Amino acid sequence: MSDSRPAGPAAVELHSATIGYGDVAIVRDVDLTIGAGEAVAVLGSNGSGKTTLARGLLGLATVLGGDVRVLGAPVGGLRERGRVGYVPQRHTVSGAVPATVREVVGVGRLARLGLLRRLRPADRAAVADAVAEVGLADRLDDPVASLSGGQQRRVLVARALAAEPELLIMDEPTAGVDSASQESLATVLARISAAGTTLVVVTHETAPLAGVLRRAVVVDHGRVVHDGPLSQAAAHEEPGMHHHPPGREPGGYRQDQPTVTTRSRRPGDQEH
Ligand SMILES: Nc1ncnc2c1ncn2[C@@H]1O[C@H](COP(=O)(O)OP(=O)(O)OP(=O)(O)O)[C@@H](O)[C@H]1O
Ligand SMILES: [Mg+2]
Repeated sequence: MSDSRPAGPAAVELHSATIGYGDVAIVRDVDLTIGAGEAVAVLGSNGSGKTTLARGLLGLATVLGGDVRVLGAPVGGLRERGRVGYVPQRHTVSGAVPATVREVVGVGRLARLGLLRRLRPADRAAVADAVAEVGLADRLDDPVASLSGGQQRRVLVARALAAEPELLIMDEPTAGVDSASQESLATVLARISAAGTTLVVVTHETAPLAGVLRRAVVVDHGRVVHDGPLSQAAAHEEPGMHHHPPGREPGGYRQDQPTVTTRSRRPGDQEH
């Protein structure tokens, strides 16, 4: 818990929250408050419920019990679009609709404006800036389908950045992203965190973002088993907690790892 939480509504507030799919509870009985401006890592082994927790904040998973509030409003009740940004874990951008990097990131900006508005020059500049911040300025007018898996992940990060959200929820933004890009992501996140954006980042790779994310929430079997400084979270991430699917590299779970781990997920590994 932060000891210097600003006044006003918390960015995220869960009371005895149970979140799942259909009527199946995955995340159970979680109490969690994230103050405005905090930068929090969500850690835990595969299948522990991190994504479900993140999706519960966005109304993409079902709140089955308890209370979940985001930026002071019940989930799904926020009237202003674009206040919450999201980088999903399992999606690359190559879809049915051909679109350029500029167009996909522009959609992020539209979320802030409302879909019936048009992008003005300042918005176009924000789009170009966001794309530059993820190192893809030279690909602005390329179809996203022509980008690599890691580059597409970075487009999704740019899409979220372009909206300039108050709360940015990122689900494994560094997965499959090379170490140079991880470092530039850390720089961007440090900047927006310093500007007051609340960050909730699900990750297996804390090393690149350790300078930005101060607090760690560790999820295990759908429950929060640790909540404290990121530097002390390692003890709660026992190697025995991890059960990786066969063929997948264990990735950079450990805090004591001296180097940045670069996982090379192929697009086929992105699980739809
Ligand atoms: N759409 C869904 N419908 C039903 N069950 C689901 C769905 N998505 C995930 N689950 C289940 O919820 C549990 C937690 O999954 P979740 O994706 O939240 O884990 P995670 O901690 O994000 O794992 P990872 O590190 O692999 O991303 C798993 O048992 C999974 O099978
Ligand atoms: Mg996940």
